[in-house]
Amino acid sequence: MKKTIAMLPGDGIGKEVMQGAQEVLSVIAEQYGHEFHFTSGLIGGSAIDQHSEPLPAETVELCRQADAVMLGAVGGPKWDQEPPAGRPEKGLLALRKELGLYANIRPVKAYECLSGRSPFKQSVLEGVDFVIVRELTGGLYFGKPSERSFKGGEESAVDTLYYTKKEVKRILNAAFELAAQRKKKVTSVDKANVLESSRMWRETAEEVKAEYPGIELEHMLVDNAAMQLIKNPAQFDVIVTENMFGDILSDEASVLTGSLGMLPSSSLSTGGLHLYEPVHGSAPDIAGENKANPLAMILSSAMLLRTSFGLREEADAVERAVQHVLDAGKRTGDLAVDQERSLTTAEMIEEVKEGLADDNAILHIMEAYA
Ligand code: IPM
Ligand code: MG
Repeated sequence: MKKTIAMLPGDGIGKEVMQGAQEVLSVIAEQYGHEFHFTSGLIGGSAIDQHSEPLPAETVELCRQADAVMLGAVGGPKWDQEPPAGRPEKGLLALRKELGLYANIRPVKAYECLSGRSPFKQSVLEGVDFVIVRELTGGLYFGKPSERSFKGGEESAVDTLYYTKKEVKRILNAAFELAAQRKKKVTSVDKANVLESSRMWRETAEEVKAEYPGIELEHMLVDNAAMQLIKNPAQFDVIVTENMFGDILSDEASVLTGSLGMLPSSSLSTGGLHLYEPVHGSAPDIAGENKANPLAMILSSAMLLRTSFGLREEADAVERAVQHVLDAGKRTGDLAVDQERSLTTAEMIEEVKEGLADDNAILHIMEAYA
């Protein structure tokens, strides 16, 4: 298979973890006889530095020319003083909008071997395996007006939670489709006791449910969902929710895995050009120190192989290699109990590559006996 992948490392640890994804994808290409061509573009603070804007037109073009997009992370204190429209985060939001990436899929799986790193009891973590489906191109992040005013001597600010029914319906459809392939349960999270947008969301969820007779739908208020996520996270299968609620709940959910550095994501469009990025940010506090956990980015590349290229075996191999490395007790600083023995980013990338090589050797042996 011959494919082009646009790599947008962005800022901070984004650059370091992106290296891991590229190296892992290159090993997969070699092992399974594919040809992956990597192109590279600027986004976020690094684009501001070179082009004075967080999303240069040439980066969008580069993505459009590719078969899939990988993104590291954007942002950092260096650009905190930029005007709202010129902040690094605007680059990411504009790209999501530009490419129509409306469905953000964030799988949350508690690795048994990492349970010691999670502040939760083992009994709470047992059976945790759910997916957050976050609406990504609407809601509070994009509603207008979103501005400051100074009228009559009074300063005020407004953001708007706006959705069209169509936008709500398509994300709910995505969640039901996903649930159909999983444990057949959708939890739709809203704030219908207060927000009009949530009342429309809830009604729409009921309408969509009628199209999927085999799937259970429950509604949950977002404040309760925040509590249930830590009280009884194993109850969830597919959680679907508004952009901002999903942003908050997915960071909360990452604690179940032991580290935000473990959570991959895919952002899907209707057009078929999808983007893959870790849930974590640019971590300015450890940027450039070779300390970041590259596994969320590497697991995002597995999602890319499976979703964009339909390469299931290859995706499984990457996930097995990550599992293998973790089972062997290898940890970056965010997961290590003993910091002295923690791995650097580069060492962790090497471990996963070695894991892939071992995995491949085992597959060949099994083929010989088949
Ligand atoms: C995420 C991030 C982004 C978001 C930021 C960097 C704009 O927190 O992908 O979860 O809020 O969507
Ligand atoms: Mg976030």
